[in-house]
Amino acid sequence: MNLVTTITEAKLLIRNKKSRGASIGFVPTMGALHEGHLQLIRRSCAENDFTVCSIFVNPIQFNNPEDLKKYPRTLDRDEKLLDGAGCDLIFVPGTDEMYPDNQADDLDIDFGMLDKVMEGKYRPGHFKGVAVVVKKLFEIVAPDRAYFGKKDFQQLAIIQHLVKSLSMPVTIVPCNTVREPDGLAMSSRNMRLSASERLIAPRIYEVLSKVKDELDRKSVAEVKIWATRSIEEVAGLSVEYFEISDQETLLPIQQAGAKDRAVAFVAVKLGEVRLIDNIELFS
Ligand code: PAJ
Repeated sequence: MNLVTTITEAKLLIRNKKSRGASIGFVPTMGALHEGHLQLIRRSCAENDFTVCSIFVNPIQFNNPEDLKKYPRTLDRDEKLLDGAGCDLIFVPGTDEMYPDNQADDLDIDFGMLDKVMEGKYRPGHFKGVAVVVKKLFEIVAPDRAYFGKKDFQQLAIIQHLVKSLSMPVTIVPCNTVREPDGLAMSSRNMRLSASERLIAPRIYEVLSKVKDELDRKSVAEVKIWATRSIEEVAGLSVEYFEISDQETLLPIQQAGAKDRAVAFVAVKLGEVRLIDNIELFS
């Protein structure tokens, strides 16, 4: 496994592989890797000849400076995990390498409502920052396939829209959410939970996994109230939003009858840490 920090080196190595007919799989990350990330790496290794993982804590997608400062950085450990998972190349650019002279590329794409609801509403500018960095990374790596987790369902929708709008020649592969044995969705931010917060965090998925059944006997509006109350019943959990929305438009659905296209989304604060999760209601 190789590790490079410059765009030139990354391009050279990847183009070399491509010229010999290798297919390229790509997993963009912000590091602090866990089993969720490694699942994407393993899948990419199984489906491509050469797998690239980028580690870049992208400053322009953080709307909260404190969150950026506290984002876990564990490069040595990440390297070992990636090596074990079969990754071929790690690309770890610095901020100057990605944004020389502090200049992020501009991006003129209309995401419609996709970047305005839920995370878009609570984290202004976040998805623009994600789209700018992913576009730039796609241009550098030029992957055949890129792997994204459904844990960040709205991000996945944004990336699919980006690729479609710009006709980028890459196939986006959605991957299932990997969970801890108690149901908590794996996240780099889980490292920041205190022991007592970690104990109550699984409540989020416990409630999400009951939503589908609740919709059989309650209206969508009633289920939203029920879910919010059931989460907040546990002292220390505070719901930022709970939505039941169409899987493609991400717009709230009104009737339980439409649940064959719906996903339940939640954002919860536990002390300083903000966690998101979702569950497909049509499976
Ligand atoms: P990061 O949070 O590091 O996540 C990298 C990828 O891992 C994303 O596609 C995310 O959805 C996926 N992932 C995270 N936790 C997962 C889990 N429990 N199960 C399955 N997949 C999981 O998402 C980002 O970084 C950034 O926004 C990025 C796309 C790299 C742009 O900066």
